[in-house]
Amino acid sequence: MGGMCGIIGYVGPRDAREVLVSGLRRMEYRGYDSAGVATISDGELQVRKKSGKIANLCGELEERPLPEAHIGIGHTRWATHGSPTDVNAHPHTSANGRIALIHNGIIENFATLKPMLEAQGVRFTSQTDTEVAAQLLGLEVARGVGLAEAMRTICRQLEGAFTLVAIDSEDPQLLVAARRNSPLVVGVGEGENFVASDVAAFIEHTNRAIEMGQGQVVEVTTDSITITDFDGNPAQGRAYEVTWDVSAAEKGGYDWFMRKEIFEQPQAISDTLLGRYSVNGELQLDELRIPVERLRVIDKIIIIACGSAYHAGLVAKYAIEHWTRIACEVEIASEFRYRDPIITSDTLVITISQSGETADTRGAQEHAKEQGAKVIAICNTVGATIPREADAVLYTHAGPEIGVASTKAFLTQLAACYLLGLYLAQVRGTLYADEIAAVMRDLEATPAKIQQVLDDSAPVLDLAKSLLESKSVLFLGRHVGYPTALEGALKLKEISYLHAEGFPAGELKHGPIALVEEGLPVFVIVPPQGRDRLHEKVISNIKEVQARGAYTVVLAEQGDADGTELADVLIPLPQLPTILQPLVASVPLQIFACELATLRGYDVDQPRNLAKSVTVE
Ligand code: M6R
Repeated sequence: MGGMCGIIGYVGPRDAREVLVSGLRRMEYRGYDSAGVATISDGELQVRKKSGKIANLCGELEERPLPEAHIGIGHTRWATHGSPTDVNAHPHTSANGRIALIHNGIIENFATLKPMLEAQGVRFTSQTDTEVAAQLLGLEVARGVGLAEAMRTICRQLEGAFTLVAIDSEDPQLLVAARRNSPLVVGVGEGENFVASDVAAFIEHTNRAIEMGQGQVVEVTTDSITITDFDGNPAQGRAYEVTWDVSAAEKGGYDWFMRKEIFEQPQAISDTLLGRYSVNGELQLDELRIPVERLRVIDKIIIIACGSAYHAGLVAKYAIEHWTRIACEVEIASEFRYRDPIITSDTLVITISQSGETADTRGAQEHAKEQGAKVIAICNTVGATIPREADAVLYTHAGPEIGVASTKAFLTQLAACYLLGLYLAQVRGTLYADEIAAVMRDLEATPAKIQQVLDDSAPVLDLAKSLLESKSVLFLGRHVGYPTALEGALKLKEISYLHAEGFPAGELKHGPIALVEEGLPVFVIVPPQGRDRLHEKVISNIKEVQARGAYTVVLAEQGDADGTELADVLIPLPQLPTILQPLVASVPLQIFACELATLRGYDVDQPRNLAKSVTVE
């Protein structure tokens, strides 16, 4: 099946082969199980595709070069069903040889459509749902229908979520793309145009983009872009300019995108905070567009997200409940929708998503809206589906995050959650202006403190070297230290394939402490000494694991005497109030995971089995 993928289409005077391959490279983080391209030269379709990473496709292109072309499509795949073989790789072609098509998403009724087509004599060459769409399109154009009309016809037949892009060898000036519930943007150039899953694919050529709406088809030539709905009625996309340039989508001297993104965090946090707190001491989230009267009557908040974004949500709960006294639940998006959650029109739902395309989060958001909740999306990707469909959005402005492991996106999600929590407190009068000002001063000081952690991070590399052979690592924390521990463990699992677990430190003695044995590395996040009553409790928890032979890595504020004494390795943290501590405590954990995965020789940016943007349920 199509799965979650990166797709690109190009029409224009450049060498399409180069545009496609470089676009695919920029989107490889979206999926790297297989890759392929199709072009038209002298009225003939040319297809090259290969399982594995784009490097394999490039090898194939060297062995069997494509003739020069000025129109083409390219695809990089994260397989959901159907193994990632050469045959199942995209593009797929129609039996009559006219159509090449790429797909992101899942065509849910392919099992009904396929036998129907087979009964008409169509022979399939792959096991994918995508080929059904290619074959259907082939039959339509063979009846003399234009490619765009044919696309609209098949879109009305297809069920499920999809982005489709197709070319027809008999109409070599035209790209046609369709979108339903999967990402698609058009890149607007001078005498050339692009379509892609995200702007990174064409940002080196143009920063002008059109965000496509759901249920739309776009016809693209070198000098025209025509959008309709699936019935052919004229429709509109939303034009915008991308504010970052190509350098943001490149490694800029770093070995990994992940490392670059970790080091971009001071700037990213500054960008999240920028312009949101006025000189007269007021939080201004005007972009929220939800009337303050409505926010004043909210009686429950539900935060919904997946993965790292869920961890940011867990931290947000502590802050929001503390500052606003509104009950706040946090839920994993894939669990939320299917358990009949209690939502009223006085419920505020906050969705958190870096990509803004995560299917689970989007589905949960849709459900919450149907039940009458107001939804605020915290998102990093301007114009993505989740912010478009929410009632309001708070963008994190972290810039593009390419490494599959979330780092700057996570940290900026935290910052956005803090801003939102303070804003709600301001609107509802649960904090005085000077209390808000004090937190804002601390928040505004965090970029410099994160920088300090980054500058002092060399010992984390030594730590990674010394723990290279570990089989398992535990992470402990209390209060906001607990989600920080979960995030530390997730980073390690994702990129270094090491068994890692995060636990609430106090819960350990109720079971997990049985895992502790001689030499087991246990990371512990310690709240500030003297300013947090949980400090002593966490210190006791360190003693408990140390007594059982754990190798303790203690993240504690500089000058924390107890923490220092109990640490086999101490990672000093700059001073911050407990509630903001995840902004600095997460950083050494990210670096540790990055170093360990690098030392183990793994591909840090593209860990096995994962994709950046999870656009299927
Ligand atoms: O794009 P999203 O923020 O919605 O993605 C959510 C998760 O898939 C994401 O955070 C994932 O867990 C990361 N790989 C974590 O590093």
